[in-house]
Amino acid sequence: MINYKQLIQKAQNALKFSYSPYSNFKVGACVLTKSNNTYVGANIENATFGATICAERVAIDSAIMNNDKEIVCIAIVSQSGDYTFPCGICRQVMAEFSNDMEIVVAKNENDYKIYKLEDLLPHNFTQKDIK
Ligand code: THU
Repeated sequence: MINYKQLIQKAQNALKFSYSPYSNFKVGACVLTKSNNTYVGANIENATFGATICAERVAIDSAIMNNDKEIVCIAIVSQSGDYTFPCGICRQVMAEFSNDMEIVVAKNENDYKIYKLEDLLPHNFTQKDIK
């Protein structure tokens, strides 16, 4: 089983694929699924700004496109050297796949905090609410 440190290192490696000419703010993410597979992502910006996609959603979408939907954990790093928390849209996308998901926000592989999605997005709206 992959550990938090390895997941963070994979997220750090993904930073090099960040396409962020507008913000110059690189973000990397790595998803871990129940089947012990990992999927990385980096933020991909766009001249319209609104079409920008965050690192977390690139990683999550990659897992989904591999039909690997049971996401157990996601590690997030950025070039800031500080903890980088997922934006509201990414939290909502995470909620679609698991309320138990662990979110690891890391300054580096030795300095990180772990949260449960339900703590970062309480009382969320998901499939169960559509009746
Ligand atoms: N960004 C992410 O990729 N993930 C986050 O959690 C926060 C923000 C990106 C979006 C944009 O490319 C840049 O960081 C500045 O907002």
